[in-house]
Amino acid sequence: MSKELIFEARQLTKHFGPTVALNKVDFKVYKGQITGLIGENGSGKSTITSIAAGMQPATEGEMFFQGQSHKPSSMIEGAKTGIGMIVQEQGTVSGLTVAQNIFLGEENKFRTMGIIHASKMNKAAKEALDAIGFTGVDPSRSIDSLNMQDRKLVEIAKVIYNKPDMLVVDETTTALSQQGRTIIYDIMKRMREENKAVVFISHDLQELMDTCDTLTVLRDGNLITTLEKDQMKEETIKKHMVGREMKGDYYRSDYDGTIDPQVVLDIDNITTGTGLLKNFSLKVHKGEILGIGGLSDCGMHELGKAIFGEEKILRGKVTHITSGDQITTAREALDHSMGYVSKNRDKEALVLTASIQDNILSAGIDKIANKLGVIIPKNRKAYVNKQVQELSIKCASVEQNVQYLSGGNKQKVVFGKWIGRDCDILILDCPTRGVDIGVKAAMYQLIYRMKQQGKTIIMISEELPELIGMSDRLIIIKNGQLSGEFARSEVLNENMIIDVMI
Ligand SMILES: Nc1ncnc2c1ncn2[C@@H]1O[C@H](COP(=O)(O)OP(=O)(O)OP(=O)(O)O)[C@@H](O)[C@H]1O
Ligand SMILES: [Mg+2]
Repeated sequence: MSKELIFEARQLTKHFGPTVALNKVDFKVYKGQITGLIGENGSGKSTITSIAAGMQPATEGEMFFQGQSHKPSSMIEGAKTGIGMIVQEQGTVSGLTVAQNIFLGEENKFRTMGIIHASKMNKAAKEALDAIGFTGVDPSRSIDSLNMQDRKLVEIAKVIYNKPDMLVVDETTTALSQQGRTIIYDIMKRMREENKAVVFISHDLQELMDTCDTLTVLRDGNLITTLEKDQMKEETIKKHMVGREMKGDYYRSDYDGTIDPQVVLDIDNITTGTGLLKNFSLKVHKGEILGIGGLSDCGMHELGKAIFGEEKILRGKVTHITSGDQITTAREALDHSMGYVSKNRDKEALVLTASIQDNILSAGIDKIANKLGVIIPKNRKAYVNKQVQELSIKCASVEQNVQYLSGGNKQKVVFGKWIGRDCDILILDCPTRGVDIGVKAAMYQLIYRMKQQGKTIIMISEELPELIGMSDRLIIIKNGQLSGEFARSEVLNENMIIDVMI
């Protein structure tokens, strides 16, 4: 059966001032296929798909959809034509209910004689949520009461409700736990069966190889190649992505999981305000990489926040052992040389309207001031540049606003902000989310280096391979309680962990 084209970009070009985000790209998407899109952070993946979906116009070039010239002026218009996109960053609007988010801009459907019927809208929203298998959320609830994963699922329900002929999934899976991922995989497979098209963006090579029928590689705004299923091999993909052979270990290679008996943090019988953690206790040791895994709502993300003083603790306490002090606020955590990379970068970890430089400096300002508290411009520049180079943050200049960076580059700024501070205890919640493989490797090296310097790293993650690959000790949380603990070992595998996770 010959492949039938659904979307085509011809010589598509996008400039942002001096940045060439796309350079004369010819890109084709076929019906009945899942087309993967991969490339380093900032290579143009979100740019090309968002132009197709109507979020922004191209500088030059043409697009065709279902054989017609395609030039949507908005996402709503893109959706009407048949292209739905689940965006990389948060796509829901605060201050509205779940249902209002699903029908944003389409309220008229529920209006009679000037009045919007909330009950009708809620009923339709429930159907939209049920259709993707996301049950158990009341559509009249405020979107702000939902966690990041659930907000993403609402967004998916909204996009699917419009029955797109082509669906773009931009780096969505890393925001989701395994349960959420199953929902999105099922949707993609269903669309393929219905002879519709999917464009799937991810940094997870295995996931792409498992899911996609073809895989297009972008590098620096150029389309490098499109690989067919039988050509998809890890080494080949990496080579096309970075333009050279990429070998070497990703994770640390040693299996020495010796734990220093010295405890630096004592989490004693805590119960959190959200109720996700109940009578939870944990001792964290000096110089260990402590991995924490579980399903997304098991309480692991709240644990990170609670340790850093950002989650209300109703009972129990977190004690910084060396000083004997109790940690109850983020200020106290900072004063005790603790750092925290939040999973939710846009909402909790970055000031989007500030520059890369100011974001990086925001956590490290006291590190570069001299004894009198004066900051020497030369030191400031060196401090910022070190993070930018070490993590290959792709930007036109460090004065650029963080909001205009690609998703992965934003994540690098959050990481750089905290790694630069040189904290004694660093809590990382999904630190490599949306980061390309090259930079992931650099992050793992930085984490390992910190450990070797005797620093303590608490790494919360949805990615089992990274937990297995990096942790000295790995604990699994289930329903707010400790359900398993594993020492670093060569034989530790994902199945052993999944057994105690669900
Ligand atoms: N609104 C904007 N203003 C200025 N530059 C932008 C804007 N949007 C994107 N860019 C730049 O265009 C380039 C491509 O970005 P894009 O978001 O498409 O990358 P990406 O491949 O999706 O990366 P990631 O894997 O990190 O999500 C980057 O250099 C980015 O900084
Ligand atoms: Mg992107």
